[in-house]
Amino acid sequence: TQGHYQPLKGKKVVITAGPTRERIDPVRYVSNFSSGKMGYAMAAAAQKLGAETVLISGPVELTVPSGVQIIHVESAADMYDAVLSQFDDASIVVKSAAVADYRPKSVHTQKMKKKAGDDVLELERTTDILKSLGDRKEHQLLIGFAAETTDVIAYGQKKLESKNLDYIIVNDVTDPGGGFGSDTNVVTLLSREGEATPFTAMPKDQLAVRLFETILQQEGGKLDVR
Ligand code: CTP
Repeated sequence: TQGHYQPLKGKKVVITAGPTRERIDPVRYVSNFSSGKMGYAMAAAAQKLGAETVLISGPVELTVPSGVQIIHVESAADMYDAVLSQFDDASIVVKSAAVADYRPKSVHTQKMKKKAGDDVLELERTTDILKSLGDRKEHQLLIGFAAETTDVIAYGQKKLESKNLDYIIVNDVTDPGGGFGSDTNVVTLLSREGEATPFTAMPKDQLAVRLFETILQQEGGKLDVR
């Protein structure tokens, strides 16, 4: 059921979530432990606040929030294509996905057979999707995530600037109240204006609504033109 408070009505919000999988051969891949919970919570929150919501998701074990349009992807390259196809008419783009920074340099078409002794897997960089969006953004409000273990605020601010973001949500993954797989999270919202808003530990679905509300507050009337 939809609440009456719908500040995102008429806006298209695109959210990415979950890990990506980078294939090694037909039966193996490189990935990470992202559960997708924060991204799915962001999608549910956007939908609840009235947005037309598109969720671009890597492989996760979660139920798609009702009313949300889902695009399933596997690799970082798939996610890049899907995000770009949704970017032009988006008002807000939230990149919660834990995109692989590296992928195997060559994908074997046949299953790799073991050999005597050790082996080395060569990796190459994937495209930084968020940075590409930062380079091409026009009216879009661009929101990133960062997981850090030290100097959380300083590293977060640096990422916000280098990727040309409007906001970044930084996560101290060493904090016992949050992180991969957890149902709760502890984050600080950083704005391009240098404002830092800390949030106490709370369930990810509640946190997601608070994050959107705080961003809308900080944007004031400026969101109307997006
Ligand atoms: N991101 C992306 N495309 C990538 C890698 C990351 O869009 N290929 C996005 C994530 O969705 C997230 C943000 O960038 O919003 C995370 O920033 P990033 O600098 O990639 O974080 P780390 O991989 O932790 O980087 P570092 O090793 O520099 O800390």
